[in-house]
Amino acid sequence: MGFPIHRLRRLREHPGLREMVAETRLSAQDLVMPLFVREGHGERRPIASMPGQCQWSVDTLVERAGEAAAAGVPAVLLFGIPSHKDAAATSGTAPDGIIPRAVRALKEAMPNLVVMTDVCLCEYTDHGHCGVLTDRGGETVVDNDRTLSVLGAMAVAHAQAGADVVAPSDMMDGRVAAIRRALDAEALSHVPIMSYAAKYASSFYGPFRDAAESPPKFGDRRGYQMDVRNGDEALREVALDVEEGADIVMVKPAGSYLDILWRVKQAFRMPVAAYQVSGEYAMIKAASSQGWVNEDQVMIESLTAIRRAGADLIVTYFADRVADIIEG
Ligand code: PBG
Repeated sequence: MGFPIHRLRRLREHPGLREMVAETRLSAQDLVMPLFVREGHGERRPIASMPGQCQWSVDTLVERAGEAAAAGVPAVLLFGIPSHKDAAATSGTAPDGIIPRAVRALKEAMPNLVVMTDVCLCEYTDHGHCGVLTDRGGETVVDNDRTLSVLGAMAVAHAQAGADVVAPSDMMDGRVAAIRRALDAEALSHVPIMSYAAKYASSFYGPFRDAAESPPKFGDRRGYQMDVRNGDEALREVALDVEEGADIVMVKPAGSYLDILWRVKQAFRMPVAAYQVSGEYAMIKAASSQGWVNEDQVMIESLTAIRRAGADLIVTYFADRVADIIEG
């Protein structure tokens, strides 16, 4: 040959050796299962755009979370679908609202389960925006600063019910500080905040908006969520959230934002979460139902790539299925 061949394949051939030198491991301990909860009893309403996912009532939610926990998933992230929505998101701050009741039921049945709650107005507003609205010279816009107190009250309602982590996903400026202050004022300084720090205005959220019944009735979310084209700005978002008191920072979506995940992990060395969102889940489900990709393999590959890019925690609708496979 005339030149030396450097042999990288030496460590690839023996399956045991390959396993030993693997740099990235997916483990069930890092997974968070998102679950949707609505009013009622015995409910189990399938979400058409997210095959395998349902809207649960509090009683069936407890069963479903129990199954996920039995599979090895340590944490759930709750989204509420209230029966009453109004312009001020009143049902979102009620101490006996759908999320506080779900949290109490879960903590009572499974004290060891880590219960996280999504803190955002869009599930509770009749207009579907993530904040309260105001008129600015004839134009309807989201009122950043008036939204902050609602977010604080919602986080307090969730934490008083026993939520282990609150997770603001609204993308208002200053909300981590506002939530931290509100929690601390109610003797809830021990409750961590997982902020959706770099959350993009993504079309990958399409199926979720059916699941949570929360699409904006007019306009879109580009006035508060991040522009898909920006990477440096994600670092500024994360820096502010960390400064304001975020304990875990999230990048969302995950699969198309691995560069952001990598940069955030490298720059901050904080616990970083990644959210494999509804559209990412739905695409894998759709392609595999056609027989075009192998569902389990693509699922594992996509999640392994998210870990490799720097995620410590992964929020995924596949959580219980992956846990089953890797712990199984
Ligand atoms: C609420 C919220 C959304 C998601 C999580 N929290 C929707 C949105 O911002 O439009 C998306 C989750 C998913 O797509 O799986 N603000």
